[in-house]
Amino acid sequence: MAAARGAGVDLTVVGPEAPLVDGVVDLFEREGLLVFGPAAAAAQLEGSKIFSKRFMERAGIPTARFVATADVLEALGALQEFTYPVVIKADGLAAGKGVVICPDRGGAEGTLSGMFSGALVGAAGGRVVIEEFLTGEEVSFIGLSDGERVLPLEPSQDHKTIYENDEGPNTGGMGAYSDSRIITAEQREFVMREVMDRTVQRMKAEGTPFKGFLYAGLMMTPDRGPMVLEFNVRLGDPETQALLHRMDCDFGALLYEAARGQVKPELLKFKDDPSVCVVLAAAGYPGKVRTGDEISGIAEAEQEGATVFHAGTKVADGKLVTSGGRVLGVTHSGATLHAAIENAYRACDKIRFEGMQIRRDIGKKGLKRWATGL
Ligand code: AMP
Ligand code: GLY
Repeated sequence: MAAARGAGVDLTVVGPEAPLVDGVVDLFEREGLLVFGPAAAAAQLEGSKIFSKRFMERAGIPTARFVATADVLEALGALQEFTYPVVIKADGLAAGKGVVICPDRGGAEGTLSGMFSGALVGAAGGRVVIEEFLTGEEVSFIGLSDGERVLPLEPSQDHKTIYENDEGPNTGGMGAYSDSRIITAEQREFVMREVMDRTVQRMKAEGTPFKGFLYAGLMMTPDRGPMVLEFNVRLGDPETQALLHRMDCDFGALLYEAARGQVKPELLKFKDDPSVCVVLAAAGYPGKVRTGDEISGIAEAEQEGATVFHAGTKVADGKLVTSGGRVLGVTHSGATLHAAIENAYRACDKIRFEGMQIRRDIGKKGLKRWATGL
């Protein structure tokens, strides 16, 4: 905050969830600094899975059936109400490690004991949600709200596992693409009405208005329609890189007006062209990561028209080196999804660092779905 004041910053946009849940927005607002993001009370939609599930239940938002408890015996008893696989979620923030899909009773018992003992995710697992397993395609749908109304951003899809074909352990996201056809016009209308508007109206009615980015992780179930797996109270990573590449407007101006209390729909415009963000990850990720490897080729990738977002890089001895698990997000677009994918990978192939991990199938599920007409 001192930095924002010192540099005369007009608008602060908060990215990560932890400071939002801890109340950074409340702090800025108390000090009279303009900020875009939810206050701590509204950030509970991401900060507590139990809050989020109970909110959805109260508001009538479609979501998986669940039991929430802080008691291990009650949790073990509740397993009888579910079939397998069953999903167990730590209540608190767990940096993407708080959700376990358990194939059978033994796995569920082991997960519950790991959560309640603190072995799995520390204090975040002291309370849990047990919920039914849903199947379908996952879609990321993000809305931008000023606390009263909400504007839809374009839909996107994340690729969470480290290996191709959705295999291997989960990561923070190995790539994403955005294409307006990811959901139909009817689905978009349904999600806006039943999820986005309903959430914003209800949060306002409950005295905790939601200002900021509302991210719904959706499961498009074949039989029950779109259902909310989780809320995040921020832009998603790496979905955002793909979304930014499609924006055809002054994003800063849009957020400035929204932070001042009014979203202006006319300030938000997307290009039709689909976009793809491919994450280049360091050796070892998502386990123990090796850092300090020199990175080359970024300028060449940019010459291909890509935007290269830095995530885990730093300058050491005048050289750009890796400094985190997900190192770069190489983002490009094209007239078709196929072209966007080719453009993104052409740019990726210019970049090198020792031990670089890359998934070669980002966006392919879209291509498969729309196998005709491309
Ligand atoms: P979350 O952090 O709640 O989004 O969960 C992380 C991932 O776990 C999601 O992206 C889904 O792939 C999976 N997941 C969460 N809840 C469910 C559910 N009820 N059924 C099936 N998969 C789920
Ligand atoms: N891509 C999912 C997230 O940012 O949590």
